[in-house]
Amino acid sequence: MPKRTSLTADRSSLGHRVRYAIRHPERIGPFLRRSARDLKLRLTHRDHVAYYRAVMASDAARDPRKAVGSHNEKRWLALGQMQFDYLVEEHGLKPGQRMLDIGCGNLRAGWRFIDYLDSGDYYGIDISPDILISAKKVLAERGLQDKLPHLTLTHDLTFDFLPRNHFDVVHAHSVFSHSPIEVIDEALGHVERILAPGGFFDFTFDRTEGNEHHVLREDFYYRTETLVALAQKHGLHAEFMEDWEELPHGQSKMRITVPRHGLGD
Ligand SMILES: C[S@@+](CC[C@H](N)C(=O)[O-])C[C@H]1O[C@@H](n2cnc3c(N)ncnc32)[C@H](O)[C@@H]1O
Repeated sequence: MPKRTSLTADRSSLGHRVRYAIRHPERIGPFLRRSARDLKLRLTHRDHVAYYRAVMASDAARDPRKAVGSHNEKRWLALGQMQFDYLVEEHGLKPGQRMLDIGCGNLRAGWRFIDYLDSGDYYGIDISPDILISAKKVLAERGLQDKLPHLTLTHDLTFDFLPRNHFDVVHAHSVFSHSPIEVIDEALGHVERILAPGGFFDFTFDRTEGNEHHVLREDFYYRTETLVALAQKHGLHAEFMEDWEELPHGQSKMRITVPRHGLGD
């Protein structure tokens, strides 16, 4: 797995921060400003989702593309294409299938799935009203109004408003990299109900092989075995996606499926 250089780093430790600051003195100012903002938002928002929604509002007000993690248009397009190609070219997503995109953001990948899938078969949910407004702009710019996607604000990942056995693919790209374990636990505890038979749930995560940690409660690093065990607790099967490791993306990917019962395999 050649692309990941710092799988054992604990970015929350003082030693790491000092070494990083010495290597990148130009980033000290922005980091301190972000720390001050995040502290203020943490003190004024009661739970993680409310806090992170406020982070997204602040980031989206400056630049919605940067808010979803792409520093320019070229990167925004490339990151969307990567997600699309992975599911369509490598893993057989077909028109006629239905997709739930958790944390759809401003449709970096979503607009491509909306274009490709049949009308109404893309469902995007997000905790941030600001980013969903930006998503609607992208939808209009791309002329995809007739595909009538669903774009819905959510506060939790219980999926209680969605139908049973409905989605062939549930997808969360760069969402659990910003989520405490309770949020992932909630999604894993409820995803089976909405997955169609044979469906799967793909999510990316920031992987560590050292101590699990977070930075400013914005970026969370998990060990693979923690997430596998969490899936197993909910009776689900988790597969680490080795083919995703070949792609130029800093996160790893996990695929969740429902084990078949009583079929002898
Ligand atoms: C880094 S962006 C990625 C957006 C999109 N998946 C993409 O690849 O462009 C993370 C998105 O997840 C949303 N998000 C974060 N936590 C969430 C949660 N618990 N439920 C739903 N959306 C969430 C954020 O508001 C943000 O739009």
